[in-house]
Amino acid sequence: MLILGIETSCDETGVALYDAGAGRMLAHAVHSQVAMHEAYGGVVPELASRDHIRRLIPLSRGLFQQCGRAPGELAAVAFTEGPGLIGALLVGASFAQGLAFALGVRAIGIHHLEGHLLLPLLGERAPRFPFVALLVSGGHTQLMRVEGVGHYVLLGETQDDAAGEAFDKTAKVLGLGYPGGPALSRLAESGTPGRYRLPRPMIASGDLEFSFSGLKTAVLQLVRGTAPNLQFHADVARAFQDAVVDVLVAKCGLAMKTTGLTQLVVAGGVGANRPLRAALDAEARRQGFDVFYPEPELCTDNGAMIAFAAGLRLRAERTAPTPPAAFRFTVRPRWALDSLAAA
Ligand code: KG4
Ligand code: ZN
Repeated sequence: MLILGIETSCDETGVALYDAGAGRMLAHAVHSQVAMHEAYGGVVPELASRDHIRRLIPLSRGLFQQCGRAPGELAAVAFTEGPGLIGALLVGASFAQGLAFALGVRAIGIHHLEGHLLLPLLGERAPRFPFVALLVSGGHTQLMRVEGVGHYVLLGETQDDAAGEAFDKTAKVLGLGYPGGPALSRLAESGTPGRYRLPRPMIASGDLEFSFSGLKTAVLQLVRGTAPNLQFHADVARAFQDAVVDVLVAKCGLAMKTTGLTQLVVAGGVGANRPLRAALDAEARRQGFDVFYPEPELCTDNGAMIAFAAGLRLRAERTAPTPPAAFRFTVRPRWALDSLAAA
């Protein structure tokens, strides 16, 4: 059962072919718009939509060629229905719906975060339900209790900026371009540990809520009025990253304790951060739980997670994918993950 997955919620055009019968991801391809948005210091929604339109068909064609498969073999077309930028979502949704309609197969709308958090199930060493998921991306920082496909309970989330957003804004303050998360992390490698100490917001709040906007302000105050200096900036980057990692690890540790679960899945772009992985692994050894990560390449937005989530949803339905009765569709720029109906 061949599924085409399409991701266009933000600034990456992602496509993937997943053989749901064999449980095998055949291939995936991503076009990142980062270079295009860099000049503006952030994602320009209208430019993002237009670029998705330009990329989607050539990227999909290349994917079919690379796999030696044809669109006529598809059993379903999966796309990101939300959350995300409305124009960008509409490009993927209309492409997916049009293709599915033409082929007489089903189009399946997938929640972007569900894609992120189910992806580690594709790995050779996969978690089993139930587990705790930490979603850390540019737009979200959430801890979820995952009971099964479609059963998600929100345990806690950020009250203001997402962790990735804090990385990006702090990177901007340090003149590192956009998106600054990976660049900030690289700079932090040459930073002196403990040279500066930043607050750990809400670390002792006793609940699973987060707050990262104050951290960015603290960095701003630290660098204000100082001349640009590489070692100083590296020390500040190190202090910032240490603070974010400490908070994320403490909250994950608390989530494991309060739920009594023994598996933690880490998903989203910030999950690619190496010091975060090292610190979570250490905490897991200390507390005695297991941690699962997607491959670093699949931490950021991609079509593979959308195709894979659709495969799991179809399997959970235990029915053959049937084409829609009428050609109509919607996208959901705002969409709470715990509002999903169970499959
Ligand atoms: O999941 P994702 O690709 O897109 C969203 O749905 O947001 O996550 C992108 C975010 C950006 O904020 C980026 O700076 C951050 O993930 N990121 C990182 C790293 N790699 C990506 N942050 C810290 N360290 C990294 N290595
Ligand atoms: Zn994402």
